[in-house]
Amino acid sequence: MAEVVGLSPQGEGIAQVEGRAVIVPRAVPGDRVEARVKGKYKGRLLAMPEQFLEMAVTRQEPPCQHFGRCGGCRWQDLPYVDQLRFKEGIVRSALEERGVNAGEFLPVLASPKPLFYRNKMEFSFATDQAGRLMLGLHLRGRFDRVFDVEECHLQSTLSNRIIRAVRQHADRAGLPAYNLKTHDGLLRFLVIRQAVRREETLVDLVVAQYPNAEVDALIAGVLEVVPEITTFVLTRHSGKAQVAVGQAQWVIKGRGWIEEECGGLVFAISPRSFFQTNPLQAEQLYALACRMGGDLQGLTVLDLYCGTGSLSLHLARTAGAVLGVEVVAEAVADARGNAQRNGIANCEFEAGPAEEVLPRLQREGRRFDRIFADPPRAGLHRKVLEALGALQAPQVVYISCNPLSLAEDLAGLQAMGYRVAAVQPVDMFPQTPHCEAVSLLVLGG
Ligand SMILES: C[S@@+](CC[C@H](N)C(=O)[O-])C[C@H]1O[C@@H](n2cnc3c(N)ncnc32)[C@H](O)[C@@H]1O
Repeated sequence: MAEVVGLSPQGEGIAQVEGRAVIVPRAVPGDRVEARVKGKYKGRLLAMPEQFLEMAVTRQEPPCQHFGRCGGCRWQDLPYVDQLRFKEGIVRSALEERGVNAGEFLPVLASPKPLFYRNKMEFSFATDQAGRLMLGLHLRGRFDRVFDVEECHLQSTLSNRIIRAVRQHADRAGLPAYNLKTHDGLLRFLVIRQAVRREETLVDLVVAQYPNAEVDALIAGVLEVVPEITTFVLTRHSGKAQVAVGQAQWVIKGRGWIEEECGGLVFAISPRSFFQTNPLQAEQLYALACRMGGDLQGLTVLDLYCGTGSLSLHLARTAGAVLGVEVVAEAVADARGNAQRNGIANCEFEAGPAEEVLPRLQREGRRFDRIFADPPRAGLHRKVLEALGALQAPQVVYISCNPLSLAEDLAGLQAMGYRVAAVQPVDMFPQTPHCEAVSLLVLGG
């Protein structure tokens, strides 16, 4: 018998057995379980629960029929209020374990929608053992195994209709899925992107060969039964890497991109551009980051890891001048287009890795009154951290999607003379253990 006393940063239960930490998947703090040790996970013992003797949280019936098999919504059996409470705990523990004094720790900001909140989903084609075509998501813990999605509660019901239509038409036409081992076959990915405020839908079908008359017939069949698709893009990707990007792209219907409104601004979203996947919560995230940055009137602001400029443009509405830095050149082109689209002239963008651009800006003697940073999961590069220390901006607002790198980077910034004034977790990904957080750092005391 084991009592679960904590949660790992990945959202798995942690029990203490004979002085050793044991990972217990599906368990939460306060649960008492009978569990059998199965091996090791990230250097810790892993025990699978066989029986729950006591549940600290009454589990609910998960709305999705794929719960348990799907690698996506691991927390769908937990009531949303408890998910929020546990996320707050994960962020708090990560900071405590790294010795970061969080200053004011604000309560987690709930997502406006706990279900059907995503604007982008990527589905994979595969073939089952009977040779039948499948289109769906990855099985939990298996990047190489796919199951047929009948319904997904993260994107819209329209998205579910699109998956069914593509699968049915492709199956009827006998089109083969791409085979990861032999590199034969045709169909690879189906990416669906939606603009929730503008009600636009982009479908990107990724195939191994094109032009291809059978693919044209497939798309025509799908568009006939789902006319709500506003734009349909075809991507050819013949390379071996299993990623939904390619060498060439054709716009089959519509203009090839969709437009979304966020915080009163308009953004173009093309098949490859980054846009926060929970758009309603993104509005709250940006509003919070702007609030933490305080009054920007007349100030010079740097937005590191700016993507397509969504936060930069929010900041530019009050700041004197904003510079956005982003490594993906296409995203920078989108960011410039977005600035124009919104009539914003005080925002510039530079393409390049932050770890090269920031040290150069510092060597050139550039000064910033506020620095915003929203790095990918791995957190700040060592050279970015050092340059931040040298630049000595009076305030830094740090947005993180990974509590471990958040703790590491806040500790690094503390060592550079910053004090963490406030941290607020933000739930961008309901039904999963992932948690975003916004922090304010102030130079000196
Ligand atoms: C979490 S996203 C944030 C995007 C943006 N702040 C937003 O809210 O839409 C992180 C961004 O960092 C970019 N990125 C990744 N590595 C980078 C690097 N070394 N230098 C600059 N940008 C990078 C990614 O392409 C991505 O756009």
